Amino acid sequence: MTDITQISGTTRVYAIIADPIHHVQTPQAMNKLFSTLGQDRVLVPFHVSPADLAVVVTGLRGIQSLDGFIVTVPHKTAILELCDTVSDAARLVGAANVVTRSSDGKLHGEILDGDGFVTGLRQAGIELEGRAVYLAGAGGAANAIAFALAASGIGWLTIANRSQDKAQALVDRLSRAFPDLEVSVGTSDPSGYDLVVNGTSLGLKEGDALPCDVTRLSAEQVVAEIIMQPVITPLLAAAQKVGCRTHEGLPMLLCQIELMAAAMASKKNESRHECV
Ligand code: ATR
Repeated sequence: MTDITQISGTTRVYAIIADPIHHVQTPQAMNKLFSTLGQDRVLVPFHVSPADLAVVVTGLRGIQSLDGFIVTVPHKTAILELCDTVSDAARLVGAANVVTRSSDGKLHGEILDGDGFVTGLRQAGIELEGRAVYLAGAGGAANAIAFALAASGIGWLTIANRSQDKAQALVDRLSRAFPDLEVSVGTSDPSGYDLVVNGTSLGLKEGDALPCDVTRLSAEQVVAEIIMQPVITPLLAAAQKVGCRTHEGLPMLLCQIELMAAAMASKKNESRHECV
């Protein structure tokens, strides 16, 4: 953890904006990273309701010691129109989760959820080039992951979601952005794909349904999660039983923390693809 007694007039400040905020783990993780890197930076929690977001963000423009902030539920979409510029990925996904503030108070929004996920897979040595990927989900997290996977060099992406219209809308947007990618709406059957990803919130709560038909999994597949708690979700447990290689949810957060720190420190409008 950052030693708070060392915070001074020269410390660069970051925030995380959320509502509710009691559960966030980013301040601990980010302050630990700043401390490990020996950086004079601190990240603090800002509990802000949707009704107050615009006025708070306007105020943040004027805080000269603030280099950026993280935005999470429920503000990831609303923040877009409060930024001066947004990255291509954030525009495509329709959400931002990191905002950098330049010295003149200009705000630039980026989305790093998907990059965090893809970087975590790469760090674990999971090949993506040309692979066939099955993604369960078409919500906020799945959208970010879908666009990052599409940009990662995979060959085929299938989106399966309870609400088929959302899956179709995501497929349509992916097809427009990545005309060379094979992309389609899928069923609950994940058989035949190299990589199976849970991008839904299923698995977070006890008694949740499984995100796909696990009886169709086979040992040569890799099964990846975005759920961090529990560490071994019912999907991962089922995949392990079949003999699949599994990839837990935590690396997505850890990689994203580093990508966020790098984005906010650089204050440049370029996207980063490598973890520190
Ligand atoms: P997040 O920001 O975490 O992605 P979200 O945007 O609300 O949250 O998306 C939640 C995802 O989990 C969606 O894909 C959702 O499916 P729907 O689009 O049909 O709502 C999926 N999901 C949540 N609860 C589900 C359930 N009980 N059964 C099937 N899918 C579910």
